Amino acid sequence: MEIKSAEFIMSNSDVEKCPKNAIPEYAFIGRSNVGKSSLINMLTSRKSLAKTSGRPGKTQLINHFIINKSWYLVDLPGYGYAKVSKSAKKTFQKFITQYFRMREQMVSAFVLVDIRHKPQPIDLDFMQWLGENGIPFSIIFTKADKLKPKAIDNHVEIYKNIMLETWEEFPNYFITSSSKDIGKEEVLAYIDSLNNN
Ligand code: GTP
Ligand code: MG
Repeated sequence: MEIKSAEFIMSNSDVEKCPKNAIPEYAFIGRSNVGKSSLINMLTSRKSLAKTSGRPGKTQLINHFIINKSWYLVDLPGYGYAKVSKSAKKTFQKFITQYFRMREQMVSAFVLVDIRHKPQPIDLDFMQWLGENGIPFSIIFTKADKLKPKAIDNHVEIYKNIMLETWEEFPNYFITSSSKDIGKEEVLAYIDSLNNN
């Protein structure tokens, strides 16, 4: 799919104030610093559409970007960042869960996990919560440039084995690197197929 236009629409901490039009949207979620904002920039081929940082906790609001004037990409704050104050964490968690519960136009979430790390309880628990709430999602493994191909396969296999202990099927997944432009066409083709469904 060709990205002809990508524009920032608005930032919100209140789900009720997010755009009202019922066009399809796709949300990026995962631990702080996993590369959500960078992935949005890679997918849209815009260097700094979404703000990124080496320091976790950069994205603090729900950010809507409109793509090709017809669907949204949504950048969300990360979960699991220890240095954010307890009250800030609670606020994040509240609006992240509200976002997923209330956004009927959200077609699919993408849960980002760093390909280098072993499956983390916080990610597995979050996917469990999505599953229990009937919210469709795919997994996006990020930072694939940091591992050799064999190690990538190995880490995906470990992930599969752990998830298949509780899930009937391993979710749809993608291997990506925002710094090396890996996985872009696959993710965009998937979104395109959902948009046309
Ligand atoms: P929060 O907004 O804090 O939740 O973080 P985020 O998930 O949006 O991460 P962000 O995109 O800001 O990236 C965090 C750091 O990881 C930055 O230093 C990025 O340059 C780096 N990064 C993101 N994607 C990749 C990647 O594919 N490869 C490598 N090597 N670094 C990446
Ligand atoms: Mg971010």
